[in-house]
Amino acid sequence: MTEAESPPQSFEQMLKNIEALEAIIENWDEDQQRTVVALKTAIAALNKEAFARLIRNVKCEPTAMSALKQALADEVVYSVLRHHKLLKPSLHERIEEALATVRPALASHGGNVELVEVQLPSTAVVRLIGACSHCPASELTLSEGVEKAIKEHCPEIVEVRRVMGLSNCSGSEIPINFVSPFAGLDDSNWTYALRLSELQSGAIKALELNGYSLILTLLNDKVVCYQNSCAHLGMPIDMGNFENGIITCPYHGFKFAIDSGECLTAPEVQLESLAVRFKDGAVEIKL
Ligand code: FES
Repeated sequence: MTEAESPPQSFEQMLKNIEALEAIIENWDEDQQRTVVALKTAIAALNKEAFARLIRNVKCEPTAMSALKQALADEVVYSVLRHHKLLKPSLHERIEEALATVRPALASHGGNVELVEVQLPSTAVVRLIGACSHCPASELTLSEGVEKAIKEHCPEIVEVRRVMGLSNCSGSEIPINFVSPFAGLDDSNWTYALRLSELQSGAIKALELNGYSLILTLLNDKVVCYQNSCAHLGMPIDMGNFENGIITCPYHGFKFAIDSGECLTAPEVQLESLAVRFKDGAVEIKL
């Protein structure tokens, strides 16, 4: 069968063929590899120039532009033109690039982030996963890390929304750290709350701080802090029963896991957490 008669291959099959050839070349000696790279570069430059001329010609003909846009919906056409940098990266790609810049910091705390969807024209929906999903400092991680990175890479995005829910991310070997990895980047609004020694392990401490009504508790080696406000109807929760890591609102019995603020009665709500940090035995809260 001649090349012209061969059945068309899928995009995946074509990529696999290229990968298989690259694997063979990897075992060649350096001189041979250099020759192959030079050949690849020369052919790629020729292809790029041909595609660029084609696009320039199509752009001169307004009626052909819609055909070009249609052609770009084809994954092979899109991928090859993107490979040659003849197309700007899509909004999805730029958001993924932004997320890639914050992932090392999130990973250092046992977490991650994923793009759920882009709601055109200006909203990105993300999900914090791993340790970040239930970390009390997650709002800071979202605003100071994820949101800033997305808005820097994609000025057209004006809102970054977070959805809760399960992800497929498995547990991490990295110890969970309940201080946001971005806590140190923004030094504003950190307020001294109390000495660490004033907190008793496993007990709830209520505190009024600059007009905020808060609850804090010491859990092993971490301190968590929430608004003293039940996620059901906003009643104070500090006088609720606290047992086995679960605080029960004294008003209508909503239960919350104190380490994450997660509501065990109605999973779509949670206690509102505030970021906590320590300085020389002092506990500071970001208000
Ligand atoms: S206000 Fe807490 S359960 Fe209703």
